[in-house]
Parts: sequence; C-alpha cells; structure tokens
Amino acid sequence: YQVIFFRDQEMTPEQHRDFGKRFGDLHIHEYVKGLDAVPEVMPVIKTEADTFNFGGTWHSDVTYHTTPPLGSILYALEAPEVGGDTMFANQYLAYETLSDGMKELLEGRKAVHSAEPIYGKTGAFSSRYKQGASMATKPVEVVLESQHPIFRTHPETGRKSLYVNGNFVVNLAGLSAIESAPILQRLYQHATTPEFCCRFRWRKGSVAFWDNGCVQHYAVNDYTGQRRVMHRVTVMGDQPY
Ligand code: SIN
Repeated sequence: YQVIFFRDQEMTPEQHRDFGKRFGDLHIHEYVKGLDAVPEVMPVIKTEADTFNFGGTWHSDVTYHTTPPLGSILYALEAPEVGGDTMFANQYLAYETLSDGMKELLEGRKAVHSAEPIYGKTGAFSSRYKQGASMATKPVEVVLESQHPIFRTHPETGRKSLYVNGNFVVNLAGLSAIESAPILQRLYQHATTPEFCCRFRWRKGSVAFWDNGCVQHYAVNDYTGQRRVMHRVTVMGDQPY
C-alpha cells in the first residue's frame, strides 16, 4: 500500500528530524506550528477535550507546494486505547484501475492545489482551531497554490498514480470549480475504493512512513474523549511530472 510501519520505536524529536533528513530536505509547515526547539517536527495532537482531529479527510500532504513532499514519517507518542487508526489508499492502484476512457480524458491535464480550503483564514483547520483544538496555527501570510498533473509519474518507480485530493484541489486547470466538481468527486470516490486501502492500529512507539506521491491517508476521528499525540516529519520531494 506504499506505506511501511515500525513498532516499538523510541525517538527524540532530534532523532526523528535526523532520520527524516536522510531522505531529503525537511518541510517546515507554513501554517501549523512545529516544536519550538525542533521546528521540523510538527506535533499532531488531539486532547480529551478536542472534537476536531488533524488530517481527518482523505489527502496527500501539502500538495499546494510546487515541490510537494515525497514522504511523511509519523511517530506515536500517545495512542488512544481504542480508535485513532490511520487509513492509507494506494494511488497506483487508483490510476491503474481507471477506465481507458477516463485515462484518455485526463491525460496531460493538471489540477490546481491550494492551501486555502484548509489553511486559509476561513479554512477548515484555521476555523476549527479557533473553536479550541489543541494544535497551534501560524499567522497566514501567503496562501500557497500550485498546479500538478492529475496523473503523475513516480520519480523512482516510473509508475503512474492518481494525484488529486479533496483537501487541496480547488479545480481542474482550465475548468471552473463547478465544472470540475463532478469529475473530481468521481476521482475521489474511486481513489479510496476499499480494495486500495489498508488501516493501521497505532500503539505508543509505532512509526508510519508513507509515500506522498502515490498514497493518500485519512486519520480516523473515532476516539473523542481520549488523547492522541503524534510527531510528524515531512520530507520534501520533486516537482510532479
Ligand atoms: C496527517 O494527516 O499527517 C495526520 C495523520 C494522523 O494523525 O494519523
């Protein structure tokens, strides 16, 4: 499913950062505060009092960048006794199982990815944070936006994957949001077909490392009243082609 898991790890934030650095430059989140001492490590926290969770929709990380991340490394410091799994959907399989007609229709076309729907001033993350979630936002100075191919080719494997996600894609290039919506809805529905998905049960010390170029993920929000504390390091990648 393009994600690997490790159990029973112990990492300081510095070790987590240094592990990530072996794979490339690290992302410092533009809109979410990292740890003061190690800004490359972004805490993902849901307390007993929070109802909102971070990443609770299907997405690939920060695709509004011109060079979106090749991978993310998520480490569980505190896991709920029940719930709080993360789901992963293999986007190679999503591409490969589209009809030839759909592949032909969208080949060579791009989608517009924007930070606005999640991290803009009225975006889902920013407005929920105001309602009292525990993660700290940064002031929004610039809303990043990029265009990427709907089907991208993995720089290492040469395989094609479907590369649109419901968090950040605002429209298909050259089409209005309303014109894009039916096509995007169909692609999102297809992208998360159960047969393309796996689901990971976290324990304290678990690590997941996923390939953002060919997998989407979804943090399941079914543990309200329990605490979940994760640290994420995100490794930047190349411009998708
Ligand atoms: C994320 O989207 O990076 C968070 C995933 C999770 O907390 O399971």
